[in-house]
Amino acid sequence: MTATVFAGISELVTGDELLEGADHSEHLGRLRDAAVVVQNGFVEWVGPAAQAPPADEHQDVGGRAVIPGFVDSHSHLVFAGDRSQEFAARMSGIRYDGGGIVTSVDATRAASDDELRALVGARVAEMRAQGTTTVEIKSGYGLNVQDEARSLRIAAEFTSETTFLGAHVVPPDFSDRRSEYVDLIIGEMLSACAPHARWIDVFCEPHSVHAFTEDEARVVLSAGRDAGLGLRVHANQLGHGPGVRLAVEMGAASVDHCTYLSTDDVEQLAAAADTTVATLLPGVEFSTRSPYPDARRLLDAGVTIALASDCNPGTCYSSSIPFVLALAVREMNLTPAEALQAATFGSAKSLWRKDIGVIRAGNRADLTVLDAPSYLHLFYRAGVPIASALDLGGRHER
Ligand code: NIG
Ligand code: FE
Repeated sequence: MTATVFAGISELVTGDELLEGADHSEHLGRLRDAAVVVQNGFVEWVGPAAQAPPADEHQDVGGRAVIPGFVDSHSHLVFAGDRSQEFAARMSGIRYDGGGIVTSVDATRAASDDELRALVGARVAEMRAQGTTTVEIKSGYGLNVQDEARSLRIAAEFTSETTFLGAHVVPPDFSDRRSEYVDLIIGEMLSACAPHARWIDVFCEPHSVHAFTEDEARVVLSAGRDAGLGLRVHANQLGHGPGVRLAVEMGAASVDHCTYLSTDDVEQLAAAADTTVATLLPGVEFSTRSPYPDARRLLDAGVTIALASDCNPGTCYSSSIPFVLALAVREMNLTPAEALQAATFGSAKSLWRKDIGVIRAGNRADLTVLDAPSYLHLFYRAGVPIASALDLGGRHER
């Protein structure tokens, strides 16, 4: 097995709070003039370049900064079709209510497996090119047994972090018999999907007639848990509601959006900080002209936060974590260091992953290179494509 030393790293952000000799201000575990030794896709050694052990190959990154690869813990990449007109309408003041999801369902059902596979592959490649090394992918544009299962089968070709979202919206043919659709989700659909999924998710949102109520969401999550899946929840996106409380009550790994939070929600999330991560998706607030939640308020209360793209055809067709980071700093009152941590360590925690999100010996060698001397340039040079996942020669994270 070939060991490669990556040297010439002007600034290495490890996120490892225990790394000896590192600058631990802002919990980033930073080293200057660093090197990383990688073998078989895993980190073997991290430290000052001058002390790097011998390796078979040497690669110089040319005085650039290296950070942990972004972990995008919330995306909906399995879809066909285009809803750019819906985006344009929102920019002129039309409110998002989830009703457009059925447009994507129709297009997705009509696409062949190969078409869907090519679309997902292109989106994953677009993410890697912007520094993302792990992506969670949800189903949710099939909404019948066959199309939900095939969405997950295709997603599983690209990631191990697959999420069954049959409870995305109630499809129109079930709108006057909602309980039958919930029964389908927790019965035949769950049986067909669980073998291809690690997680289950539900869009719990009383402000949308298309989404699920607290009681319906509880039924879906309980069935998913009984089938061995971890829990994630779309909650409090369109207004205040029961979703965050439900996610905490059920021990969900992640509750996502959190656009509208009451004081009680924040207290519940803080008390559950070891279990439930609040995943913020500022690309959605951008693309739906919604108010940004105050991430500072969450951190100050002791909540664990993650940042992710939510890349989807309706509320945010951007796959860019650098864009998310810029928004989080400018609009949600995070420091650059806090935002970077949320999109690496925080999002890895929301996926129960300890092998990613931090660069340390034994972890996956998911490294993102910045065409700049320090991580601050990610924010300072917003909009400039300086981040990309380091290519280890085909040994990419799955
Ligand atoms: O995370 N809110 C529910 N689901 C997606 C949007 C899906 C769509 O509009 O196509 C979201 O925002
Ligand atoms: Fe989503």
